[in-house]
Amino acid sequence: MSAIASSFIEGLKGRRSIYALTNESTVPNERIEGLISEVLQHTPSAFNTQTTRIVVLLKEQHEKLWDIAYETAFAASTPEMFEKLYKPRIAMFRAAYGTVLFYEDPAPFEALKTKWPMLVEKFPEWSLQTSGMHQLGVWTLLETEGLGASLQHYSPLIDDRVSHEWDIPAAWSLQAQLVFGKPIGPPREKTFEPVEKRLFVHVLHELPGLDRTPAGLFLEVHEPSDHENIV
Ligand SMILES: Cc1cc2nc3c(=O)[nH]c(=O)nc-3n(C[C@H](O)[C@H](O)[C@H](O)COP(=O)(O)O)c2cc1C
Repeated sequence: MSAIASSFIEGLKGRRSIYALTNESTVPNERIEGLISEVLQHTPSAFNTQTTRIVVLLKEQHEKLWDIAYETAFAASTPEMFEKLYKPRIAMFRAAYGTVLFYEDPAPFEALKTKWPMLVEKFPEWSLQTSGMHQLGVWTLLETEGLGASLQHYSPLIDDRVSHEWDIPAAWSLQAQLVFGKPIGPPREKTFEPVEKRLFVHVLHELPGLDRTPAGLFLEVHEPSDHENIV
């Protein structure tokens, strides 16, 4: 296995949900910004639409976010639900160092609607998939730098207040909040389904029109489609 492949796998393995976090960081803010910029620059997006928008809230700004979550959850839930579910969790998130807000901007897909009318229904789905790829990239890279993080979903509860507070365009949709800080506890125990139940590999027989790859698998030879030619 190449060194890059093993580092990548180590990064994937090291990424876990970590909830016990302090309001410190293991790296300077510039490093956090740099890593997230790299993720934005190099993560793929459907049709290369680059729909993902990221807002990073640090320290007091992060606390303000979780104060908003506290107030909106308090207003929207029963006292029992608030005390049992929201209050302790929001306090735990507020005690961390920062939050990455993942937004999706639908505007880049608008231009594609007339060109690809038969795919329009899929655009929202692909936008979510694009967001998920960015979430994994940021989550994994922050944890490679010794930070801990967990992925949260307080949308639509907090949407309006957050948009107003940080001047977020109305059309952007909030997909997830990644809370991070210095870890002070291990991740929870995790179970793994057997890979054999989840991975199915079929190797094609040698046929005309198929090319053998260096790994010994066969690839179907085809001309690039219009979709692949879109930049
Ligand atoms: C799409 C998605 C949504 C998730 N939503 C939440 C969430 O709202 N709150 C939370 O605490 N964890 C959330 N998680 C974290 C998962 O529960 C967690 O990744 C999973 O249990 C595996 O644990 P690990 O992250 O430690 O590997 C989410 C993860 C994914 C991929």
